[in-house]
Amino acid sequence: MATDYDTITQQYKKSKELPFRLCIEAYTFFNLLGNLAGKSVLDLACGDGFYTRQLQLQGAARVVGVDNSEKMIKLARQQEAADEQGIEYIIADVLELGLIGSFDLVAAAYLLNYAQTKEQLLSMCQSIFTNLKPGGRFVSVNNNSEQPPQSFLTSEKYGFIKSISEPLQEGTAITYTFFVGEQFSFDNYYLSPATYEWAFRNAGFKEIRWHKPLLSPDGVRQEGQEFWQDFLNYAPLVGIECVK
Ligand SMILES: C[S@@+](CC[C@H](N)C(=O)[O-])C[C@H]1O[C@@H](n2cnc3c(N)ncnc32)[C@H](O)[C@@H]1O
Repeated sequence: MATDYDTITQQYKKSKELPFRLCIEAYTFFNLLGNLAGKSVLDLACGDGFYTRQLQLQGAARVVGVDNSEKMIKLARQQEAADEQGIEYIIADVLELGLIGSFDLVAAAYLLNYAQTKEQLLSMCQSIFTNLKPGGRFVSVNNNSEQPPQSFLTSEKYGFIKSISEPLQEGTAITYTFFVGEQFSFDNYYLSPATYEWAFRNAGFKEIRWHKPLLSPDGVRQEGQEFWQDFLNYAPLVGIECVK
């Protein structure tokens, strides 16, 4: 059964304070997103709006966030009410989103890894494609399907580990456990890189690029290169860029 984010809203928010989130995850994501000035951006699986707000702060002219967790969207809307940025938040399942606009960019941090089957992955990719302008880009950070399970414990020093209870095959649940404040877990699902390529192409994307995570200069300054080496060698996340 898919993770219900309604039950881990606060813990997940806390996990966003871990250094790897800023020094690698956000750095990689925004590097791929590029110059946001004047752009319209749809943030899918926006959660509590952690990245949605940053998209607007970095110059995007119109930002819409979508998530299927009512509590996550409630938290996002509370923050919008407290500090108005003009962001619209919608509760919806990306699997059946349909056309809600025509955006320059669709951003998604950890959406596709919730697809449990190739059909679900294709539905998500179709929702993304439908909401992009011709020439628009989809940019994502996602679970790295190519990380070998033998290296799943190497991320412990960054505040989390992954685990599996069966050999990796299409649809295998990957449990992420975070050690921040109160320990908590949630599941993602494994689909092979070939299945991802298949889904992107079938949705209509012309160009598909995979990117290794990038480490920010601040990350090197704060912790030293050596600290991050396991993260870079056994990357738990991957960057993805697709052009319509
Ligand atoms: C790991 S969180 C990422 C949140 C946010 N992007 C971030 O990086 O902080 C994954 C989010 O995906 C949402 N989600 C999972 N499956 C979804 C779906 N089918 N449609 C919409 N949201 C979904 C969850 O509710 C959760 O908020």
